[in-house]
Amino acid sequence: MKERIEFTLNGARRTLLVDDSRPLLWVLRTDLGLTGTKYGCGIGLCGSCTVLVDNQAVRSCQTSMAEVAGKNVTTIEGLAKNGALHPVQQAFMEHDALQCGYCTPGMILQAVALLHANPEPSREEIIDAMEGNLCRCGAHVRIVDAIRAASKMEGGAAT
Ligand code: FES
Ligand code: FES
Repeated sequence: MKERIEFTLNGARRTLLVDDSRPLLWVLRTDLGLTGTKYGCGIGLCGSCTVLVDNQAVRSCQTSMAEVAGKNVTTIEGLAKNGALHPVQQAFMEHDALQCGYCTPGMILQAVALLHANPEPSREEIIDAMEGNLCRCGAHVRIVDAIRAASKMEGGAAT
């Protein structure tokens, strides 16, 4: 049944009339045209659909619209501020931490959540936190390097 769901998306209040059992992933991609959030496995195993909900990294394929009511959702489209890339985005570019780029939005949001919770993670803590995000191109080493670099940049822990 359709319900009125209010939430904040990338800093703007939104009210949608949607079936509240629908996954956030498909509302973002299909209803709102925010295709930066990627569909990989659909069963919570790859991390490509990761977004932030109240600064926590969540799998949007496994998150219903009912679960985001009243919450703050950030997708890759909402990470840059006033035309400036988020330090994690900047570090991914500088460290060439992507190849095809399909996993990248989910990787970046997972990393942003990590740095918000732990602004100076060790290499092992980064590897641990990123374990559930898969990259078929094998960019993992450069991804870890990028997150290390972002943790040292001003604003790296901002969400
Ligand atoms: S598409 Fe959501 S975890 Fe793979
Ligand atoms: S860069 Fe291609 S899947 Fe990660």
